[in-house]
Amino acid sequence: MTIKALRGMKDILPPQSDKFLYFIENATKIAERYGFRYIETPLLEETALFKRSVGESSDIVGKEMYQFIDKGGNDVCLRPEGTAGIVRSFIEHKLDRMQQTYRFFYYGPMFRYERPQKGRLREFHQFGCETFGEGSVYEDANMILLIKDILDFFKIKYSLKINSLGCPNCMPLYRKKLVDYLEGLENRLCVDCIRRTDTNPIRVLDCKIENCQKELKEAPKLLDNLCEECKNDFEKLKQLLKKNSVSFEVDPNLVRGLDYYTKTAFEFVSAEIGAQSAVAGGGRFDRLVEFLGGKPTPAIGFAIGMERILDLIEMPETKREGIYLGALSENAIDTIFTLAHKKREKEKVFMEYRKKSLKAHLKAADKANAKYAAIIGEEEIKNGTIWVKDLENKKEKVIDLEQF
Ligand code: HAM
Repeated sequence: MTIKALRGMKDILPPQSDKFLYFIENATKIAERYGFRYIETPLLEETALFKRSVGESSDIVGKEMYQFIDKGGNDVCLRPEGTAGIVRSFIEHKLDRMQQTYRFFYYGPMFRYERPQKGRLREFHQFGCETFGEGSVYEDANMILLIKDILDFFKIKYSLKINSLGCPNCMPLYRKKLVDYLEGLENRLCVDCIRRTDTNPIRVLDCKIENCQKELKEAPKLLDNLCEECKNDFEKLKQLLKKNSVSFEVDPNLVRGLDYYTKTAFEFVSAEIGAQSAVAGGGRFDRLVEFLGGKPTPAIGFAIGMERILDLIEMPETKREGIYLGALSENAIDTIFTLAHKKREKEKVFMEYRKKSLKAHLKAADKANAKYAAIIGEEEIKNGTIWVKDLENKKEKVIDLEQF
């Protein structure tokens, strides 16, 4: 039996991999314009990191972790997301003590043992950004504008949903109100919601089961229970988005599937990719640095799910590029081999290790999308020349090898 990739894990081959690089290259450029710098953290971390940050009550930690004991007896886990590792790194390198703003971007594979379906993989890739040390709501708007710039660049249509999840001043009071309401429903909710009433009641709000949503109609609303600061920030965010031509919808049930969020939470959704429609998600996590042992540091970030948008990306038309080198005789192969190496100092070079007819070489050069075909046969060797054809304007000429 041949060995195949694991369920929910995909190879990315050309031309899809060209799109993958095209995305990274351009998303990176846009993030850099906003002052973000690259950060790389390990794929494998201590399991406790995700339990404490993403949260024990989340599906990610509860059901979806690639967790194992390594040969040294450590309880470790393939990262299900990028934020936790970056916060760990931020604290470990004592950046929390610097009283500065740090902006990081990252990309790479994430692992969640989910039930695979279209748009939902067990290994998938995220491109994400995190800002540390900036509590101003302008940064919330800035993050959203950055995602908008990236999606606009790739001509991806989306709708944006925003919500505020409150802060330690208002959230506990709201949580209590909600729990009182949920307990009053006396088991009319689904089993997951009943469990969540104890573990993480606000997750009940985004239950997808119709009956639960019906029972929740009269539930106290998060947005009606925000403290002054959260309310003002949320109003300011809406104002900034409107002023900067970002359309959005307030979704009071948007709670996100990770437990570390406070205040602003958002999701970008596409109508063109099926049921798994979230292309990007994020929000503030002002408590997380402190919660993981660092100095209190406000933070906000997002991640884009790359597989979800790759199919929507159209590559720009490729221009002819580089030189195709061909030999008409055995003797000429060594010459073009050496020439190819020299030419590669500056440009893309295609070459065949076999002699071919001129016609066959021109066909191969065309297929490679080269700008020039440069061919050497016995006569050219004798004269120290090379025959060159510009495949765009179809002009041909013979030039000295030295000059070439
Ligand atoms: P998330 O919403 O769990 O947030 O994931 C972000 C994006 O990753 C989703 O919107 C989706 O596009 C993609 N994604 C998630 N799971 C899968 C999957 N199984 N298969 C394919 N794509 C998937 C986070 O991960 C947070 N760390 C984002 C963040 C950064 N918040 C603050 N900073």
